[in-house]
Amino acid sequence: MSKAFYITTAIDYVNGQPHLGHAYEKIIADVIARARRSLGQDVFFLTGLDEHGQKVQQTALAQNKNPKAYCDELAADWMAFARKLGLTNNDFVRTTEGRHQSVVQTCLERARAAGHFYKRTYTGFYSLKEETFLTAKDRLPDGTFDPSWGEVIELKEEDYFFRLGEHQQWLMDYISQNPHFIMPEYRRNEVLGLLKSSVLEDLCISRPVSRLSWGIPIPFDPEYVTYVWFDALVNYISIPAAHGDRTVRAAIGANGAAPGSGAALWPADVHVIGKDILKFHAVYWPIMLKALGLPLPKQILVHGWWQKDGQRMSKTTGNVVDPIAVIDEWGVDAFRYYVLRELDIGPDGNWTDDGFRARYSAELAKGLGNFINRSLTMLKRYRNGVVPAKSDELSDQTTKTVEEVRALLENSQLQAALVAIQALITRADQYIEKSAPFKLAKDPAQAKRLDEVLYNLAETCRVVAILYHPFLPDTTGRIYEQLGLAGKPDRFSEAAWGKMEPGHQIGNPAPLFPLKEEK
Ligand code: MSP
Repeated sequence: MSKAFYITTAIDYVNGQPHLGHAYEKIIADVIARARRSLGQDVFFLTGLDEHGQKVQQTALAQNKNPKAYCDELAADWMAFARKLGLTNNDFVRTTEGRHQSVVQTCLERARAAGHFYKRTYTGFYSLKEETFLTAKDRLPDGTFDPSWGEVIELKEEDYFFRLGEHQQWLMDYISQNPHFIMPEYRRNEVLGLLKSSVLEDLCISRPVSRLSWGIPIPFDPEYVTYVWFDALVNYISIPAAHGDRTVRAAIGANGAAPGSGAALWPADVHVIGKDILKFHAVYWPIMLKALGLPLPKQILVHGWWQKDGQRMSKTTGNVVDPIAVIDEWGVDAFRYYVLRELDIGPDGNWTDDGFRARYSAELAKGLGNFINRSLTMLKRYRNGVVPAKSDELSDQTTKTVEEVRALLENSQLQAALVAIQALITRADQYIEKSAPFKLAKDPAQAKRLDEVLYNLAETCRVVAILYHPFLPDTTGRIYEQLGLAGKPDRFSEAAWGKMEPGHQIGNPAPLFPLKEEK
């Protein structure tokens, strides 16, 4: 079996309800997954929940709930959220599942047997909020710690540590030699800078049960549970193992599907993550994989953070964007479109309700929606909805855009792909103005010319539906319906010019993005 294109997202902590940041990341991954499928690849798209650790335990206890019962309740909301966003994930991992826990424990056993761990007493500072050991370097000049660390306590305890020293050099070389391993480039430089300027501290991979019980038991010491990041990162291989992935199973000897029936997933093609968790993915995760004898993922794609109205989103101040409310009011495609069109993958972004409305109105309602509606309405009115003889006046431009968009999708340049499709619509709109079908329709001597124009427009509508499909799955399905075409516009190869057959009867045009009253 040939290897599938395997794409993952970060798995979210279940200590609250999903917000814009979570939604954005999942939509990025979904669009890449859909685009790859459209381009003919087998795809496996994984997302899910990170359910262990201090944050979740604290939130559950604050609500007088047992952590597992609390997670079960919230997991239902998060899974419903994934459907609300239109995600086409092939599996959904919860780190409390047996299939995940057993792989984490196997990985711990393996790494210990290979001599990667040792036990020692740690004396120093610890951030409860970030579940991280702090060093003198983390102190501010006045000796205190940055408030972002939350409550910092002094700690003296025995723990298991992962030796990282031997890994620093090869990792630095690997990142230098593989320019696409961490994208965008400035994030790669950030990791290289960190590796060049400091010596990696060994990573503590255990937490004593006496302090934190909500975790996966360390198989070789019942007094400890697994550090939440060692647990969470392993989801990227535990789920492939559960699907019988041969590479993972061969490396860790995990049980799974019968030999030969397994999916071929690992190594991941893309891990989509936010900038705040870069070190975990670009430093600790590759080292864990190397220690387990597994190949590294091909790419870590790092997105920026959203603010609202220029300020950090925060539940306490109420400065949040609730994706569910936006989707209920404007539709899921409008939400998917805005976040990807507004913010390229990399920099930070700023949500404003006005900005959202402006793009909706100019680019979806008056841009895409209006172009499709005008084109199909004219075909309906002037030719009873029957597609005329083929013509290729817009063929060159359209084909150029198709190739451009293909290359951009293959590079996960989603914003640029949207810009390219939008430019095609602008050109097609100009074509309508220039060729003036509404005037041609009044002159019977121009019937042939009108046929040509109508064919070019209908065919452009069809191709536009295919190009937009990964981004706007609902809307493009409706464009296909209005075009009277069966199936979904989910195959890129169909974007070749001239596939619309003369004599084909289209369906009924209807507005795709109704204009809303100004509030
Ligand atoms: N559980 C860890 C990830 C483990 S992955 C093996 C975690 N969870 S999280 O819920 O805090 O964040 C999940 C993802 O959402 C991260 O990639 C994070 O960067 C992203 N975002 C959280 N807030 C965000 C914004 N305001 N904007 C964009 N993305 C943000 O970290």
